[in-house]
Amino acid sequence: EGPETVGPTGQPTGSGQDRRAQGGPWLTTAQGTRLYDTDHSLKAGPRGPVLLQDHHLREKVMHFDHERIPERVVHARGAGAHGVFLGYGTATEICKAGFLAKDVETPVFVRFSTVLGSRGSADTVRDTRGFATKFYTDEGTFDLVGNNIPVFFIQDAVKFPDVIHAGKPHPDREIPQAQSAHDTFWDFVSLHTEAAHHTLWNMSDRGIPRSYRMMEGFGVHTFRMVSASGGTALVKFHWKPKLGVHSLVWEEAQLLGGVDPDFHRRDLFDVIEAGAFPQWELGVQVFPDTPEQAFEGIDLLDSTKLVPEELSPVQPIGLLTLTANTKNFFAETEQVAFHVGHLVPGIDVTDDPLLAGRLFSYLDTQITRLGGPNFAQLPINRPHTAVNDMLRDGMHQTAVHTGVAPYHPNSLDGGCPFLAGAQTGAYVETPVAVPAASKVREAPLSYADHFTQPRQFWLSMSEPEREHIVAAYTFELGKCYEQTVKERQLGVLANIDPVLCARVAEGLGLPAPEAAVPLADPEPSPALSQVGGAWPV
Ligand code: HEM
Repeated sequence: EGPETVGPTGQPTGSGQDRRAQGGPWLTTAQGTRLYDTDHSLKAGPRGPVLLQDHHLREKVMHFDHERIPERVVHARGAGAHGVFLGYGTATEICKAGFLAKDVETPVFVRFSTVLGSRGSADTVRDTRGFATKFYTDEGTFDLVGNNIPVFFIQDAVKFPDVIHAGKPHPDREIPQAQSAHDTFWDFVSLHTEAAHHTLWNMSDRGIPRSYRMMEGFGVHTFRMVSASGGTALVKFHWKPKLGVHSLVWEEAQLLGGVDPDFHRRDLFDVIEAGAFPQWELGVQVFPDTPEQAFEGIDLLDSTKLVPEELSPVQPIGLLTLTANTKNFFAETEQVAFHVGHLVPGIDVTDDPLLAGRLFSYLDTQITRLGGPNFAQLPINRPHTAVNDMLRDGMHQTAVHTGVAPYHPNSLDGGCPFLAGAQTGAYVETPVAVPAASKVREAPLSYADHFTQPRQFWLSMSEPEREHIVAAYTFELGKCYEQTVKERQLGVLANIDPVLCARVAEGLGLPAPEAAVPLADPEPSPALSQVGGAWPV
């Protein structure tokens, strides 16, 4: 956007100077009146009372009083950067999205985050990391709002408030700030055993990444891609860091939390300043779009399950390069609003019930966080393509819309002459058949297996990785006050693997329980050790 030189009715706005720069020879009020002093309030004499008529004092303090907006209800702590995405053209057979076509370059903004800590918490805590990407494509904005762990705690979004209430600090004492070492977290995950898989990834080295540059990203849910000829395929998105996947060890994470709580944020900013631009390859696992929406017996609508890469290799479709730091953290990193519902033609959602809740939640929360419904007008959220949305008014409206007939069709001002037909670049939902069914509050049977994949993950770990996992469970559970919570979680570990359970139980000084369910196939899937493996550099 250029300088604000023209007013709503076309008249010049004065000096023609860019108000965003906050420069110029004079300090002024917000109304542009020049000031001669900003260090002393207006008083009745040098030692007398301050006068209410001091507009400058009231305006300056009033604005300061309202500088903070609510932090995100989750993922409050984050860091962002600008970059570019280069399409390889390898996905065009299955996906018509223009930004994936060969050699198309699309501007992007990426925000990395932790989940549980508040805005000022430390970077190196044990937690899941967010990896959210906004693609400003010619066909509208596409957001890929993923995490660095390929599975999620819960299968249905109706439990999201519960898992977050359990993971956030205790309501009475507001500790711990940003990790899972407390009773409510372990109470929840031991009662909802679908969380066993994500929790195990958190307790592994994946929970303490070395750098944002060395993290994978996952779209987690299965999405649907649509080709130009109308064919569909189911896909899972993966980001593979060019630098490979690296983690801290626990002692490093602990030390850094004290010595440099901004470790990840600093790293990202410094390497971009130095011109060592971080890169990730975007890839997809592709599955046939069958009515079962399953692959090799794995339910593709269950976000607690992954598909091993040896069963379905990740196929590279583009390259992300982060090339520029933010200039204003608040305006960019803090005000950016991602949403899984920001889709472009060629990419559609599936019926994963976790995804369904997200489709509601992001827009909804942003109304509170960003103060009303007009946050798409904020510079970081503006699409890089023409917008003609007929949306009007509302809190924090900054556009001066013209035209008297904000609806379609209208015969008064021609404000919206066309709707794009399905053939002219419109977003058309895929006409997927919905099976005839009764309304139920139930999960499918396939959601009931909570332990096979965690067991395979554990068995695919090397001995040093296992040591880290055992130490993490022991440390985090060791912080619980409630004995019953520790015992119940040991029961969960017994269902994953007796050795894992015995080693953690020993660390806690408790007896190791027996498995309550038959253990899954003891053979580790070689594929699982490849999940998230380093990308060949
Ligand atoms: C924020 C990922 C599940 C609600 C975020 C962010 C990421 C993320 C990366 C941070 C976005 C940013 O940097 O601004 C995920 C993933 C999920 C998941 C990968 C599961 C696969 C859910 C669910 C809900 C939810 C089930 C609610 C039903 C939210 C909310 C925010 C958020 C309210 C804050 C957004 C804002 O204030 O702008 N999520 N999330 N998430 N997520 Fe999720």
